[in-house]
Amino acid sequence: MASGEKLHIVMFPWLAFGHLLPYLKLAKLIAEKGHKISFISTPRNIHRLPKLPHDIAPLINLVKIPLPCTPNLPENAEATCDVPFNKVKHLKIAYDQLQDPVTCFLESNSVDWILCDFASYWLGPVASRLGVPCAFYSIFPASILGFFGPPSQMITGDDYRVIPEDFTVKPKWVPFQTSVAMSLYQILVLEPNFEADETENVSDLFRIGNTIQNCDIVVIRSSTEFEPEWLKLVEEIYKKPVIPAGLLPAIDDDHEDEYWDEIKDWLNKQARGSVIYVAFGAETKLNQVQVTELALGLELSGLPFLWALRKQRGLTDPERIELPEGFEERTRGRGMVYPTWVPQVKILSHDSVGGLLFHSGWSSVVEAVQFGKALVLLPFLGDQGLIAKQVEEKKLGLLIPRNETDGRFTRDSVAETIKLVLVDAEGKIYRDKVKEMKGIIGDMDRQNYYVENLIGYLQNHKSMGK
Ligand SMILES: *[C@@H]1O[C@H](CO)[C@@H](O)[C@H](O)[C@H]1NC(C)=O
Ligand SMILES: *[C@@H]1O[C@H](CO)[C@@H](O)[C@H](O)[C@H]1NC(C)=O
Repeated sequence: MASGEKLHIVMFPWLAFGHLLPYLKLAKLIAEKGHKISFISTPRNIHRLPKLPHDIAPLINLVKIPLPCTPNLPENAEATCDVPFNKVKHLKIAYDQLQDPVTCFLESNSVDWILCDFASYWLGPVASRLGVPCAFYSIFPASILGFFGPPSQMITGDDYRVIPEDFTVKPKWVPFQTSVAMSLYQILVLEPNFEADETENVSDLFRIGNTIQNCDIVVIRSSTEFEPEWLKLVEEIYKKPVIPAGLLPAIDDDHEDEYWDEIKDWLNKQARGSVIYVAFGAETKLNQVQVTELALGLELSGLPFLWALRKQRGLTDPERIELPEGFEERTRGRGMVYPTWVPQVKILSHDSVGGLLFHSGWSSVVEAVQFGKALVLLPFLGDQGLIAKQVEEKKLGLLIPRNETDGRFTRDSVAETIKLVLVDAEGKIYRDKVKEMKGIIGDMDRQNYYVENLIGYLQNHKSMGK
């Protein structure tokens, strides 16, 4: 295949902004090299994506396919952030009904590659029938894929790990030392989706296992600088090519953001490295007990804080969260709470911010570390717990201590962990390690190398056409 030949790549991410955004990031980097992308999602999701830069907009075709009406799914809900946790399964069922229109799109366009997500377990067989090669693009690091192991056992459920405790130690196929494993409370309390319930006939593991089994290659948002041992292991387990796409560090696009002027003015008045920025992303919502302990912990720490607090998941969410009585008055001036989206990349790049207290989502890990901010880890969902263990193992941050059985944490443990990571001499190791890793994660030349390497592979193995 002639190198330099332009490709047409279809991307079909899961309906969650934690997936849509890293897909769009990779789409932009590929389009910058002159290749064409068809980015398929639903109309409201596409409408909510960040605006594309003028120079690459003509190369990224945003394909809007309406989500079929599905019983039990609230009106206008098209992404996980629009629905309470217990309705996400209905979103998956609606997503599965996109099979026909997506197939139709693939049949009526000349496509060189498909990059698909974990949820569309039915897409691999469609791609192979049409003779289009298919990559599973994992927005999770290789450690997570490695922890779950061979796809065959994800599909059949035939795992040697049976009781919850089995998942709290490293799996037998991992030959190196690691603390990456689940916490008991994650399995017992926080992970309702671990097994399919009666209304959701297909489990997440079944979805991801089939996606891996039926794809030609696996592309991972990862780098050999960050987790060489896990990348190698995943390639051995899957017996197919595993290609890191780079960590996709954020690039601040300088565009106007609501609230930024106000936030910047406030940050400018704070001491260097003193502010803890608190954010749980678009998907993770804490319950009332957790928000209360977190708020009182921030108050106790005595440190300045900036908190993006999500009070509701979509308008149908019955559980609206409130701050403790008198909290805002008591912390006025020292703390800022925004009940909405705030410009995270701009905040993390500010010198006054010393650390990030968050759910341990992979995108936020990358963004915080690229700006040298230490991590205070409070994971909820399965992938978050594993990522938290991995970054703690690398001494980039520290988990807030919790009750291992029920996951509860206290205001005291919140305050102590924040102070340790941001201020105390004992926590200097985290502040130093994160500065060391900063240059590696934020290296745009390395990122460019990964994208060129990936494109080279796709060019050499593209669809032969009809
Ligand atoms: C899931 O449910 C749908 C619709 O009820 C059905 O068509 C499909 O075969 C089911 N899949 C599995 C794996 O049970
Ligand atoms: C942890 O939680 C469990 C279940 O709620 C409880 O029985 C246990 O006493 C707690 N452990 C500690 C150390 O508080």
